[in-house]
Amino acid sequence: MGKRIVITGVPGVGKTTVVNGALEQLKGEGIEYRSLNFGTFMFEVAEAEGMVKDRDGMRKLDRDQQKRLQKAAAQKMAQIPGNVIIDTHCTVKTPKGFLAGLPEWVLRELQPDMVVLVETDEDQILSRRLNDPTRTRDMEGSREIAFHQEFNRSMAAAYAMVSGCTISVVKNQDHLLEQAVARMADVLR
Ligand code: AP5
Repeated sequence: MGKRIVITGVPGVGKTTVVNGALEQLKGEGIEYRSLNFGTFMFEVAEAEGMVKDRDGMRKLDRDQQKRLQKAAAQKMAQIPGNVIIDTHCTVKTPKGFLAGLPEWVLRELQPDMVVLVETDEDQILSRRLNDPTRTRDMEGSREIAFHQEFNRSMAAAYAMVSGCTISVVKNQDHLLEQAVARMADVLR
């Protein structure tokens, strides 16, 4: 069985950008990972059933609907062999509070070796969100973003307790993307 690495970070922290850079680097060394986006797997079901028009609408769905989509996504991803990266969230901020991205039934399906937290300063995340017109991001201030990042660390600790996975942190600071990519490549090697 290959490695299963879960990559997390609050919306707009740049996790997809960092992972893509690291995968490019590793490919040159003959190390291959298949990159899966949890949100895309959920969205395929949600869109087919006419529940939402865009992926940003999913976190506003009823809690039971989100849990059903979550379970369907985890079951599909668990069947994919080889080294796999799963791009997702420690917690999803919904109108009714934080929803665990990796509850026990998701961890049991995915059996991750490691959970990676991609983080940076909250003001940088705020500015990246404001500069990305392609997405419908929630409007929140930098203190709320800081709280969300702290909360995600606590949740990652709980995931380690349940599944036995390890936890790594990758910093993705402004103007230092290359450092973040190099650190992510180290983590995945
Ligand atoms: P998802 O698709 O993961 O959306 P997201 O949270 O908005 O994350 P993104 O992938 O868009 O942001 P990113 O952090 O990867 O940033 P990016 O690289 O684009 O999830 C969609 C939805 O699916 C969720 O809202 C939820 O409803 C659902 N979902 C997913 N997993 C779930 C789960 N487990 N349970 C329940 N629901 C789940 O970069 C952002 C910007 O920053 C870019 O413009 C980029 O150019 C810039 N940038 C990046 N790095 C740097 C840098 N170092 N310096 C300057 N700019 C930078």
